[in-house]
Amino acid sequence: MEYGMIHLTDAEFQIIYPHIRERYGLNLEKKKYLIESKLWIELARYRVGSYTEYWQMLRADATGTMERRMLDLLTTHYTYFCRESQHFDFLKDRILPQLGRARTAPLHIWCAGCATGQECYTLAMLLLDCQTAGTLRVPFHIFGADLSDTAIAAARKGAYGSADYARLPRAWQCHYATPFQNGEFQVLPQIKALVTFRQQNLLDRPALPERFDVIFCRNVLIYFSEKERAQLLGRLTQVLRPGGYLLIGHTESLIGIQTALTYVQPAVYRKPGGAAA
Ligand SMILES: C[S@@+](CC[C@H](N)C(=O)[O-])C[C@H]1O[C@@H](n2cnc3c(N)ncnc32)[C@H](O)[C@@H]1O
Repeated sequence: MEYGMIHLTDAEFQIIYPHIRERYGLNLEKKKYLIESKLWIELARYRVGSYTEYWQMLRADATGTMERRMLDLLTTHYTYFCRESQHFDFLKDRILPQLGRARTAPLHIWCAGCATGQECYTLAMLLLDCQTAGTLRVPFHIFGADLSDTAIAAARKGAYGSADYARLPRAWQCHYATPFQNGEFQVLPQIKALVTFRQQNLLDRPALPERFDVIFCRNVLIYFSEKERAQLLGRLTQVLRPGGYLLIGHTESLIGIQTALTYVQPAVYRKPGGAAA
C-alpha cells in the first residue's frame, strides 16, 4: 500500500474531534490539518488506507494502546524549568508563610498537566530549599499527572537537555543535578523521590479524596473547549482543600466560568474556607 498523505475527510473529522473533545477536553475544532498531519503516520503504522479504518481499529483496541498513541501525538508538551516564575515566588512568599507554626500535616501539591516533569521538579527543588532555610517546616509531596504516556515516562526518567540545564539556577545545577559530558543532566534521586507521576485524564472523576493545598494547572485549560474547561475546573475545585490555591497559566483566565474559587491576583485563585489568607 502506498502511504503518501491520506486526507481526513470532513465526515471523518466530524467523528474524531467530538470524541477527543468530550473524552479529554481538547479543542481541535479548528485543527483538522493538525489531526491529519499528526495521525497520517499512524495509518502507515497500522497499515490502514483511511481514517475511517484507523478509527474503527482504534475504537476496537481493548488495550487502549492506539488511543494513547493518538493522544501523545495530539497533545503539546511544551514546558521548562522555572516557567512563569511569579508562581514559585507566590508559593514561597505568600503560601508557605500562611501554613502557620501549628501545621504538622504534609503539604500536598498537584501538577495537573505536568507534561515532561520540569514543573514538578522546579517545585521539589524550591521546597527543599525552603525546608533547608526553615521557611517550610512540614514534609511535602508533589504529584504530577498528564494524559500523555510518553510525557510521563520522560518525567519519571528526569533526564533533560542542555537548554533545560541552562534554566536551572546555579545552586540547583550544583546541588540537585548530575550533569553529563554532552551537556545533558539528570535530576538527583533525592529530588525524584519527592514526586510521584501518574498517567491520568484530568476529566476523569478524581479517585483521590479532597486534599491538595496547591494545584498547578498551568497552560492546560488553554487547549480545552469551553464546556470541558468548566468541567475540569469543577474537578480541580473538588480536590482542593478549603483555603487551597489554584494556579493557572498567565495567558489563561477563568472569566466566564462559574466557579466557587475567588480571584487573588493574575493567574491565582483560592478556594474559600480553611486558614486565614
Ligand atoms: C503545554 S503542557 C503544560 C505543562 C506545564 N503545566 C507548564 O505549564 O509548563 C500541557 C499538558 O497538558 C496535558 N493535557 C492536556 N489535556 C489533558 C487531559 N485531559 N488530562 C491530562 N493532561 C492533559 C498535555 O498532555 C500536556 O502535557
